[in-house]
Amino acid sequence: MDAPIVIVGAGIAGLATALAVAPARVLLLNRGSGQGKPASAMAQGGIAAAMGIGDEPRAHAHDTLVAGAFHNDAAVVNWLCAQAPATIGWLERQGVAFDRDADGRLQLGREGGHGVARIVHSGGDATGEMLMRALRERAKAAAHVTWRDGVDVDALLLRGEAARGVRVRDVGGTACEIPARAVVLATGGIGALFARTSNPPGADGAGLALGMAAGARARDLEFVQFHPTALDVPAAHCLPLITEALRGAGARLIDAQGRYLMDGVDARGDLAPRDIVSRAVWRAQHEGRQALLDAREVAGDWSRRFPTVLAACLAHGVDPRREPIPVTPAAHFHMGGLAVDLNGNTSVPGLHAVGEVACNGVHGANRLASNSLLEGVACGRRLGAALAMREAPAARGAARWVERGPTLSGAALERLHQRLWDAAGPVRDGARLHAAWLACRDELGDAWQSRLAMVLLAAARDRPASLGAHWRQDAAALAVPGRIARGA
Ligand code: SIN
Repeated sequence: MDAPIVIVGAGIAGLATALAVAPARVLLLNRGSGQGKPASAMAQGGIAAAMGIGDEPRAHAHDTLVAGAFHNDAAVVNWLCAQAPATIGWLERQGVAFDRDADGRLQLGREGGHGVARIVHSGGDATGEMLMRALRERAKAAAHVTWRDGVDVDALLLRGEAARGVRVRDVGGTACEIPARAVVLATGGIGALFARTSNPPGADGAGLALGMAAGARARDLEFVQFHPTALDVPAAHCLPLITEALRGAGARLIDAQGRYLMDGVDARGDLAPRDIVSRAVWRAQHEGRQALLDAREVAGDWSRRFPTVLAACLAHGVDPRREPIPVTPAAHFHMGGLAVDLNGNTSVPGLHAVGEVACNGVHGANRLASNSLLEGVACGRRLGAALAMREAPAARGAARWVERGPTLSGAALERLHQRLWDAAGPVRDGARLHAAWLACRDELGDAWQSRLAMVLLAAARDRPASLGAHWRQDAAALAVPGRIARGA
């Protein structure tokens, strides 16, 4: 029997790819245990799609480019925004029930950076969970998909230049080599490399590190998005997200004295793009002011519209209907990643990447809210369809294994998280970035997390101007005129 297409990662992009590959055989490898839910399942706001009266994909594309500081690949943006309404239709056919009003019309939410309400949602703020549930069920029932949980892929087999297999380790450390017709990395982002993140622990860049070890080109690594409103749980690493849809429904950022944090910062106020709002929250914190999200005026039934936020806040002793929510910025999404074309091809034949681990240029320097689930589904379907029709690339030459490398854990990993947060968080400067790079090199050895942190720190250090989510406070004298004025 032919080797299967191996998909590493069972988040939204991996599942959409797996379903679209039919009838070709797929082996879906899920890291699972101890890594938390996939980040896709934690996505709250929804999926951006121009489906409201008077809205159109061109307007969605415009907002995507503005949020991305025009660092985006415009052709990819136009394609993705044009795909969005059909993507919603496809998801409905997979069994996702999107929230509708009494007349059966889609309820559309509003989020930062969007000129109109265009966020399609399901289960109120449980959109990611609802999508994952439907696609997981489909994939588990599909005859062409074999599912394996609790395995970590720590090496790739290259034959000549082409990817032809993976090595997996189960939780007990037992290794197993699996030949592949093609390998798809759908491993998510890197938020968990930072001391404060809205991502699960498994979003640690393991797939990005493996792809880079195999020689795949990476791009835009310095662009990390910080969500302005994670629940500020003291000393915690992975923080519950407080969806931006709450600000779309009227919640406002304030300090402990009730002063509005976004007043005088940006004409779009609390619904400015995330990079701008995150810096305002960060600045307030660094001035010794507590940042709070006042959602007491948000109308409607919280248990229907915002059940996830309500449950997370109550679990931490905050009732958002009666008191402002303490919030903090947190690493949320990596715009950079393994460089791919629109068909998910990396620079290594037979190695593909999709979703957050990949960078096709769609998000530019700062992703527009609710474009990530859209990207995962639309690009996954496109990659799956392309793989279904393609022969394995010719692979001549010697076989060799490329390893991700040794893993940091415990106190050393915590030090790395803190270094990245301090140096490469929402506000950066060249001297701190360089000092953190030296510290990783000299103190943290050759572990893969340390190597990944170093390439990210170097990319941020070597881009001296501010752009989108990459904000250099030492950039005033260096920046391109007009670029740094945005939400300074
Ligand atoms: C949110 O609901 O605020 C996050 C959604 C996203 O990351 O786009």
